Amino acid sequence: MRYKLTIRPLEWVNGRVKWLDVTRLPFEEVYKESSSYEDVARAIERMEIRGAPAIGVAAALAIAAAVYNAAADSVDKLRELARRAAERLRRTRPTAVNLFWAINRMLRVVDSATSDPEEFRRRVVDEALSIMREDIEANMRMGELGSKLIDDGDVILTHCNTGALATAGFGTALGVIRAAWYEGKKIRVIATETRPVLQGARLTVWELAKEGIPVTLITDNMVGHVMSGGIVSKVFVGADRILGTGHVINKIGTYMIAIAAQRHRVPFYVVAPTSTIDLETPVDSVVIEERSPEEVRTVMGRPITLPDVDVMNPAFDITPPELVTAIVTEKGVIYPPYRENIAKVVKG
Ligand code: MRU
Repeated sequence: MRYKLTIRPLEWVNGRVKWLDVTRLPFEEVYKESSSYEDVARAIERMEIRGAPAIGVAAALAIAAAVYNAAADSVDKLRELARRAAERLRRTRPTAVNLFWAINRMLRVVDSATSDPEEFRRRVVDEALSIMREDIEANMRMGELGSKLIDDGDVILTHCNTGALATAGFGTALGVIRAAWYEGKKIRVIATETRPVLQGARLTVWELAKEGIPVTLITDNMVGHVMSGGIVSKVFVGADRILGTGHVINKIGTYMIAIAAQRHRVPFYVVAPTSTIDLETPVDSVVIEERSPEEVRTVMGRPITLPDVDVMNPAFDITPPELVTAIVTEKGVIYPPYRENIAKVVKG
């Protein structure tokens, strides 16, 4: 199935990485361009580029841009440059596994044997473009599979932003919602604002409004009340990392929504490409990114508390598998028991 692509947050333009700076949305649509991997690394750290699949694709494009633009005339020098870029990009954000998946995929090509610098450049750029193209294809396939779980008239609660803006285009959980809408299902979305940096209020609302999909914004602390009122049919969220056990690591607040969903018997679906699945790491070893306290002490840069108050700012939380109804991937919809079924889908 081919759906239309309405938003392209990441592109490859004449050997440079072009990105939509999502920190400026919904007020300004500002695109930036650079051939420097350092610029892209900083854009990921500042969350100008964010969302698990998007940061993986951006890192791949940044490695490609470094190699494409380097004057070096030997493969050894190009290889060393690509490895330096990979090391820098690896240090940008620790939790989303797509970043490491994409960098490792690029490094396999960087390590592959060729002594011709032009051939080397071509292979590296081709790999980055494939990672970007495959992400869009996976999103559309998940849209097709996931929209079968949505009925006409459903009210869907979603968290953070899992749309085109979090991927190379189309989106994961929001891609499923988008696909259901394109197929003519009359749905409504409830978007949580997603403190501290408001991806729901700023990005999800912007994306849905652009498509004409009806959306109602709530603050994060309204979820329990809204679910107890019986108006939520299903929850669809994305993921930054899904373990082989079925633990889902996603934007802070996801766990709280999953608990409320179970209490009120609302199906809780996770949508993520297989590049988000991590069969290696045990749950105790997952690194949850701790971001700047300023994100909590302020809203959109404006102070809301005492400047030196102690705060916590974990960017993600972990939802245990028993709260997850199913996981939609591009290779199929996975149901419990996750320990068996996730590995089967990923390896098969
Ligand atoms: O901190 P962010 O904005 O990068 O977090 C993003 C999320 O938690 C998304 O839900 C996740 O990356 C899936 S996006 C397709």
